[in-house]
Amino acid sequence: MKKNGLYFLLLCSIVLLSGFSKNQDPKLIPAKTLNESIEAKIDSLLSIMTLEEKAGQMNQYNGFWEVTGPLPKDGDAALKYEHLRSGRVGSMLTVRGVEQVRKVQEIVVNESRLGIPLIIGFDVIHGYKTLSPIPLAEAASWDMEAIRRSAEVGAAEAAASGINWTFAPMVDISRDARWGRVMEGGGEDPFLGSKIAAARVKGVQGKDLSDPLTVAATAKHFAGYGFAEAGREYNKADIGNSTLYNMVLPPFKAAAEAGVRTMMTGFNTLDEIPVTGNKFILRDILKGKWAFDGFVISDYASIEEMVVHGFAKDEKMATKIAVEAGVDMDMEAYSYVNEIMDLVKEGSLDESLVDDAVRRILRVKFELGLMDDPYKYLDEQREKEVVGNPAHHEAVLDMAKKSIVLLKNENNLLPLNKNGQKIALIGDLADDKNSPLGSWRIASDDNTAVSVLEGMQKYTGNKLTFVQGAPLVVSEESFLTELRFNTTDKSGFPAAVKAAKNADVVVMVLGEHGFQSGEGRSRTNLDLPGVQQELLEEVYSANKNVVLVLNNGRPLTIDWAAKNIPTIVEAWQLGTQTGNAVAQVLYGDYNPSGKLPMTFPRNMGQTPIYYNHQNTGRPQDPDPGANMVWWSHYMDIENTPLYPFGYGLSYTSFKYDNLKLNKVKYAMGEEVQVAVDIHNTGSFDGKEVVQLYIRDLYANTVRPVRELKGFELVDLKKGEKRTVNFTLTQAELGFYNNQGEYVIEPGEFEVFVGGNSVDTLKSSFMLGED
Ligand code: NOJ
Repeated sequence: MKKNGLYFLLLCSIVLLSGFSKNQDPKLIPAKTLNESIEAKIDSLLSIMTLEEKAGQMNQYNGFWEVTGPLPKDGDAALKYEHLRSGRVGSMLTVRGVEQVRKVQEIVVNESRLGIPLIIGFDVIHGYKTLSPIPLAEAASWDMEAIRRSAEVGAAEAAASGINWTFAPMVDISRDARWGRVMEGGGEDPFLGSKIAAARVKGVQGKDLSDPLTVAATAKHFAGYGFAEAGREYNKADIGNSTLYNMVLPPFKAAAEAGVRTMMTGFNTLDEIPVTGNKFILRDILKGKWAFDGFVISDYASIEEMVVHGFAKDEKMATKIAVEAGVDMDMEAYSYVNEIMDLVKEGSLDESLVDDAVRRILRVKFELGLMDDPYKYLDEQREKEVVGNPAHHEAVLDMAKKSIVLLKNENNLLPLNKNGQKIALIGDLADDKNSPLGSWRIASDDNTAVSVLEGMQKYTGNKLTFVQGAPLVVSEESFLTELRFNTTDKSGFPAAVKAAKNADVVVMVLGEHGFQSGEGRSRTNLDLPGVQQELLEEVYSANKNVVLVLNNGRPLTIDWAAKNIPTIVEAWQLGTQTGNAVAQVLYGDYNPSGKLPMTFPRNMGQTPIYYNHQNTGRPQDPDPGANMVWWSHYMDIENTPLYPFGYGLSYTSFKYDNLKLNKVKYAMGEEVQVAVDIHNTGSFDGKEVVQLYIRDLYANTVRPVRELKGFELVDLKKGEKRTVNFTLTQAELGFYNNQGEYVIEPGEFEVFVGGNSVDTLKSSFMLGED
């Protein structure tokens, strides 16, 4: 390894002075000393950096091949190489694999004046090569340890492949199923979303960022992107302060508290200000109130897009706005590398802001250990051993099973008998090894998922017949193409109907293609795409014993299926081990325990629909006769969802009883102890997510009709009964007022406990009032 002279000499002298040696175990050094030593090194380094080199650290380039975002400008690759050599690049994204990363790292280390290593970023959204379920599916597990482990697996594979930093987790709360990126988040609830955000950050970053099997995490997209109006991608977010503070920001705060090292802005505007230029959320809240000491990166080209938004006159103005707002690194807009120098020289941008940004970036590079050894993540042997390791397949299989939600199981059609049955497996997606990988799978090989067909073939006691029924798509399937669906070809219907007639049970795998959700994939119609609904109805008319297995990246409108089909399994896109997970659940080798992290609407017109809505001044009267025209409702459909937030069944049944609070009145500041009995009353061992919701009956700002404030995943043998305890503390009883202050108000509260957000036991208490 050849390090560039100047920086290396400087580093050696600081090392000698601070008594910190490269060979010493950094874990033995108390955190404070280590941090002080890092800050001292940063000071020294900053003192010898030119303005051009500082702006360079704030510049991130995409790799020389495109997988995301707009295509590069002319002559790009040459320019990027030149900038790598001259110290004008601080980071690259989408360069991957030890060999490739080594190439770019060697250029900066050996050829640039200071040799400051690059930090290599990559979208490790739900795994790297071995893919776990899409994040929305993982959220359905409500299992924080499994989610942490899944993130850890993805981070380990990425790190072994030379990557130092993932652009995950996406912690955007999203209520609108039209938005394609709901698949990438933790669903609609800020409490669950915050727990998931923390679990993912911990999984990605581990306990020690300098461990070569961990990477830095990013909480994205700060903030409000999940509230894109009408679910249309990149659209404005028009939300009030209460929604911002109570719904949008909590998962970011949880990520910051869990130690996330970076945050990414979004493409949206918030209250008409692009979030990439939004000083209020970035400088005042994130870096101010929350004292976040990591760095902020813009989303892809979103700095220059402020010109297109109509917020900046030109790229130069956009750069000034972004730096001043608190964006430390520019992802592929070329704005910082082109404009910062002139802005500072002209005196229209304060160099201390540039220094602060560079300090934050260097801090993370130091924490990762890159400054001591730019090649520490580059070990070919480790790459071979870790990427695609069999233990990772086990981990993602475990996560996949935990992500499945049983929506309906009339007549106990599931679990399937293992012997002597004739099973017809129908649907294009059943034989698909590609779609289950979802749309974020840059480092994974196409067609590498275990298909449902392959998973079911492992159960050999039954006679399994597969029939496609109808092709799902007619266009080429790739990350960069829009899918076109088969809306005409029904030639396979007769074979499907025949197979259904000859079968004891029909398993139909229907839903969305993996490339139908994700970035840039908003939809206005959430029905089964193509001719799948017609196929479902024809098959059902031939054999009523239908098990519908859904594949999808968002809630779908499946009202007809919910009314007619006896058994429905929500299987999302479950990644590499999809088929094994689905088969094990269908055959009862795994008892499903997933619960929906997003409400399923009855029809598109109900969207956005979410459980933690407000009461309005004219809610439904419990006496149906009292509901005249003038109440908050639709004329053509009821207000309730098809399947509520938190909903999911099991092969066994659970009975809730004895909801008790330790008091009826509490002083301000006192904790509320809640206990409930849960009994496994069915004939299988099983897990249940016990959920606790509260309602603050009157407050300074109107509170939702229910808010999740606790949950516990309990494992109960058949017949077993247990008491589950919850404690409501200050952290659960308050809320943010419209000024962003956390307040706890006295008054009456209701408490609900149950297996979903609707079917609950109820109690109540008074807080701080006579
Ligand atoms: C754009 C996406 O919005 C963001 O989430 C992602 O990390 C970047 N592209 C980089 O691929």
